[in-house]
Amino acid sequence: MTAVTVSTSPAASLRTDAVVIGVAKSPKGLALAPGAEDVAMAYDGNLVELLGTLGMTGAEGEAIKLPAPASTKAGFILAVGLGDAVDDGPYDAEALRRAAGVAARALSGTGTAALALPAQTIDAVEALALGGVLGAYTFSGYRTSADGRAPVGELVILTDPEGRTAAAVTRAEVIGQELNRARDLVNMPANDLYPESFSATVQSVGQTYGLQVEVLDETALADGSFGGIIGVGQGSANPPRLVRIAHTHPEARTHLAFVGKGITYDSGGISLKPVGFNEIMKRDMSGAAAVFAAVVAVARLGLPVNVTGWLALAENMPSGSAIRPGDVLRMYGGRTVEVLNTDAEGRLVLADALVRASEDNPDAIVDVATLTAAMKMALGHRIFGVMSNDDTFRDRVLDAARRTGEEAWPMPLPAQLLTGLASQVADIANSGERMGGGLAAGLFLQEFVPTNLSWAHLDVAGPAFHEGSPYGYTPRGGTGSAVRTLIGLAQDAAHRPPHAADAGGHR
Ligand code: BES
Ligand code: MN
Ligand code: ZN
Repeated sequence: MTAVTVSTSPAASLRTDAVVIGVAKSPKGLALAPGAEDVAMAYDGNLVELLGTLGMTGAEGEAIKLPAPASTKAGFILAVGLGDAVDDGPYDAEALRRAAGVAARALSGTGTAALALPAQTIDAVEALALGGVLGAYTFSGYRTSADGRAPVGELVILTDPEGRTAAAVTRAEVIGQELNRARDLVNMPANDLYPESFSATVQSVGQTYGLQVEVLDETALADGSFGGIIGVGQGSANPPRLVRIAHTHPEARTHLAFVGKGITYDSGGISLKPVGFNEIMKRDMSGAAAVFAAVVAVARLGLPVNVTGWLALAENMPSGSAIRPGDVLRMYGGRTVEVLNTDAEGRLVLADALVRASEDNPDAIVDVATLTAAMKMALGHRIFGVMSNDDTFRDRVLDAARRTGEEAWPMPLPAQLLTGLASQVADIANSGERMGGGLAAGLFLQEFVPTNLSWAHLDVAGPAFHEGSPYGYTPRGGTGSAVRTLIGLAQDAAHRPPHAADAGGHR
């Protein structure tokens, strides 16, 4: 794992394998970012011209290696683009995270590197540390030959001695490590990650960090009448689980519940997905991974807030014991659902988990799910949709996403679409009209949340898994989408005054 440290030494005097500097786009052309002064000096004032000759423009994503000048003790210099130059004041946290991520990726195979990037504030140090830890991520456990290069060993952030940088680095390391844990789970193939193995991981990690973990196995789920989770899981040789992982704090004034869709593999079931759509479905537990990672991070950060995570784990498979289109399930809490499409399984496991989570009377509830292809069509690969029964709470979620560097967008829950889910035989059907499918899924979930409880639904079907080339600190594969937003919400709740303990607004 990549270590992050801070140092106040001047860049040119450090004995490291590499020194990273930032360059930005300014109206006058290429500009060196604060932090690079020392290195620039060693190039006798020719550095900007040299980088321009090599084709650098300062755009985000650029990375160019240069031989280090003889007067420094570094092996090489790595220049990374920061985007538009900032004249005064700190660089935007997300620009710093991405630049550090680009650097960390370019530095794979390197031992130690110093980041001589703009790090004038505590927030900037935290952003560089997080971008570095996330950018250094690789998933190599399944390769038998070491053809990929090892992640950079250590990143030394160069900053001035003012301020409490150690706490910022620790925060970034905790968030980065837990987010990377979510990525690992998403990337893990479904032959190794199934409900039972996933819940065993939650138990062991929970124990390490002093969290309370309860696992309902298939017998307990049947005894408890969790018809949605049992129904979706009954076609698989790997039986389902419902996992509760709780962080409690003596000074907590707010209780948040996070619910994650944990379909460890989604074949579609009897409504089988065709080739071309089923290879990518190990990712369908990304919501549960995000919830798990966020709760562990909140616990490790010791935030004064109570957070309960619910992981609805099942494998959606076709078999002689699988649910059939037309079957009616009796959900936890007693409502009935006609399963018209067994591939609309996420909402079935989530409905049970939402009803159960609400019984603890949290102040607000947030679910995260790779729920619909429709949301991916609507918002693309990088943005998740946020639906809510409470506009004030939805804005809080969007704000937490923006602050923490995630892209999110509000989506409506138009009541008339609910008529598309009418069933001839049961209280509601699990699928209906195709148009607006992401919103219909949100409306279905809303039926299982008490009307007086603030609830938000995050459909991460697009951003949970990155199929293109890496960019910034985002690798191929599992991205850890929504982890930072959930942690951000917990941070908000931890710092809100007691009289505003209701996490949402009043409708
Ligand atoms: N897990 C899928 C949604 C999905 C698709 C996530 C692509 C990520 C990438 C979900 O279970 C599903 O199959 N949804 C159906 C619902 C439909 C049958 C009502 C969909 O979106 O097509
Ligand atoms: Mn499905
Ligand atoms: Zn699914």
